[in-house]
Amino acid sequence: MRVLMLGGTGFVGGAVVTEAVRRGWSVTVFNRGLHGSAPEGVHRLRGDRTAPDGLAALAGGEWDLVVDTWDGAPRAVRDAARALAGAVPHYVYVSSGSVYAPPVGLGTAEDAPVFEAGADAGDGDYPQNKAGGERAAVEVFGDRALLVRAGLILGPGEDIGRLPWWLHRVARGGEVLAPGPRDLPVQYVDARDLAIWLLDRGSEGAGGAYNVVSRTGHTTMGELLDAAVAVTGADATLRWTDPDALLAAGVEPWNDLPIWIPLGHEYRWLQERDVERAHAAGLACRPAAETVADTWRWLREVGQVPARAGRPARAPVGLAPEREAALLAALRA
Ligand SMILES: NC(=O)c1ccc[n+]([C@@H]2O[C@H](COP(=O)([O-])OP(=O)(O)OC[C@H]3O[C@@H](n4cnc5c(N)ncnc54)[C@H](OP(=O)(O)O)[C@@H]3O)[C@@H](O)[C@H]2O)c1
Repeated sequence: MRVLMLGGTGFVGGAVVTEAVRRGWSVTVFNRGLHGSAPEGVHRLRGDRTAPDGLAALAGGEWDLVVDTWDGAPRAVRDAARALAGAVPHYVYVSSGSVYAPPVGLGTAEDAPVFEAGADAGDGDYPQNKAGGERAAVEVFGDRALLVRAGLILGPGEDIGRLPWWLHRVARGGEVLAPGPRDLPVQYVDARDLAIWLLDRGSEGAGGAYNVVSRTGHTTMGELLDAAVAVTGADATLRWTDPDALLAAGVEPWNDLPIWIPLGHEYRWLQERDVERAHAAGLACRPAAETVADTWRWLREVGQVPARAGRPARAPVGLAPEREAALLAALRA
């Protein structure tokens, strides 16, 4: 297989490149060359897909599959898809569960309504960008476009820093504010499992939309944080705390305490999507303990969470130590 990766030097694109190289496929990455490096043997094409004539380096190339992680202006997906229409039979667009238009219910499946967004739109909000990116891929490639609606993505290389925040926090030791309930079901996908799945299905020519995350309850907050304690070897005590007490104290799920979205919260659907379509199509999710251990190993190699490749910076996730200490003291009182 000859795969063209648009992007490919960040978290998810990097996982796709690594997996394709592992398979012995011919891999080409296309990006501006501003971030990261590609494994040996990977062909590098340079260009800025937002610039006039920025796709020139793609001219004359031929591939069996293209994978695109773009999350900016939909028109950049449209332009790339048009430029590649005669050069590649199949377009895999790494999309997001954020495309679903509110109100989003628990157990949302792929036929739920998505945001209205034009394929030729400029840069906007993330959900609209992703919905417009989907539309652009489908407009050009029809049912030869595979829309990979990922949810929470974890694993080595994670550049948002959700699991890394927990690992660093637990490694610091002491009393750790652990958001309950301990058996809260969590839904996510390891970037490596996502990469395997999209290359498997993409190379077979699958099309259409898929929610690509684990089943809810593949792991729990308890299992994740226990695994973090185990792999870091930290002298840490998890203080499991009632979710209502945390909410009453102003703790923001997802941002203040990453990954955590309690039952009944308006964004709980982010952890409870219907994923039967992807699982019927072969999605296999490795154990959470492996994701945690490998992420910790990677973090110790790199030291800190890398900047996101070619993406706008995001506010850091996770409570500041002083706030966590104050919350623990207040909750104890
Ligand atoms: N993290 C999550 O939990 C989550 C959840 C759901 C979905 N997702 C999706 O997962 C994907 C994550 O992608 P990623 O950042 O890891 O992808 P990536 O492909 O690994 O990295 C982004 C790439 O884009 C390139 N790039 C940036 N601006 C460019 C430009 N103007 N022209 C050409 N190339 C450009 C960057 O290189 P240069 O800067 O050198 O050009 C870099 O190689 C996104 O599609 C996101 O929507 C993430």
